[in-house]
Amino acid sequence: MATRWGIISAGKISSDFVAALKALPTSEHRVVAVAARSIDDAKKFAQTFGIEKAYGDYMDIAKDPNVDIAYIGAVHKQHCKIGTAIMKGGKNILCEKPLCINVKQTKEMIRVAKEQKVFMMEAVWSRFFPVYKELEKRIKSGEIGEVMHVMANFGKDVRNLLPRFLSNQTGGGVTLEIGVYPIQFVSYVMGGEKPLKVIAGGHQNTGGVEDCIGATLLYPNGKIASITASFKSDLPCEAHVVGSKGTLKVPNPMWCPEKLESPSGTFTQLLPNTGHKFIYENSQGLIYEANEVRRCLKEGLLESPGMPHSESLTVAEIIEAIRTQSGTVFPEDK
Ligand SMILES: NC(=O)c1ccc[n+]([C@@H]2O[C@H](COP(=O)([O-])OP(=O)(O)OC[C@H]3O[C@@H](n4cnc5c(N)ncnc54)[C@H](OP(=O)(O)O)[C@@H]3O)[C@@H](O)[C@H]2O)c1
Repeated sequence: MATRWGIISAGKISSDFVAALKALPTSEHRVVAVAARSIDDAKKFAQTFGIEKAYGDYMDIAKDPNVDIAYIGAVHKQHCKIGTAIMKGGKNILCEKPLCINVKQTKEMIRVAKEQKVFMMEAVWSRFFPVYKELEKRIKSGEIGEVMHVMANFGKDVRNLLPRFLSNQTGGGVTLEIGVYPIQFVSYVMGGEKPLKVIAGGHQNTGGVEDCIGATLLYPNGKIASITASFKSDLPCEAHVVGSKGTLKVPNPMWCPEKLESPSGTFTQLLPNTGHKFIYENSQGLIYEANEVRRCLKEGLLESPGMPHSESLTVAEIIEAIRTQSGTVFPEDK
């Protein structure tokens, strides 16, 4: 039986996610409903993608008996409010990254997921790319010896594109928006372990959020990680895992890669050509996380081992440490 998706929000990433789902067999994935704040937007989205039901209220997704799982593609300031309401309505959720805008909200999302006994996963799609699986395999094989240092960065000059990135009122800031990718990468390599210490700094923009950051994370056993993220500079967008015997490199785009470079040779897994037009880079790779969600639901899991709740919390704690040390405090933090 197909996994039946209900889409919450008719924005850009929802559009890419549905386009990716459409590239998978209908016997495995079906989009059965979409909800937006405005019924007209929902109807337009439904028409574009041939979706049966369109709603003007997100909670109608929770009430729809044909929906197995809600995909939340709203802006992150809204994730906790929407996610907890939908889970309390009895539905599983896949919620876009970052799961929430602070640690307090992340804990609440996890609490509600456990209380309601529904599946919840933060949509850290990178984790399910074949390159990330290969990276894990090569680290475990001992190819580069003991991992000592992880370096990851993500920076794009996007200042003129999306105003919500740049304002405290909209839960903006570079750490939540794109810093989450190098942070989750470091956490992935460190096996989800919490850092002993996060030492960070960043520059504030006029909107009351950090627009570039640098952070050093100290881990047990002498391990260390360096993270940079920027809205102002086109950084290399690469990640390196440096071990006692060699280095693994995930080249640009490190958050949705097709290649892994290592001492034993380059691993390449090109993304399938789905024939769909996507808004964001390599969005056809959203199929990997969709398939992971289907696997988890079929097996009755309430969280994915690839992005468990505990790691969403660890990532949220690192993000909060970096943004607050960079001077960004949200009204929701109090
Ligand atoms: N996985 C990825 O590759 C990826 C890529 C980009 C973004 N993201 C994440 O996905 C989320 C959405 O990003 P996006 O680029 O798709 O955003 P977007 O298109 O700007 O907005 C998404 C939706 O959020 C709702 N929204 C927008 N402004 C709002 C406001 N002021 N108050 C309440 N709701 C508002 C709208 O829902 P309605 O349609 O219901 O009005 C809108 O369609 C973010 O958390 C982002 O970090 C993930």
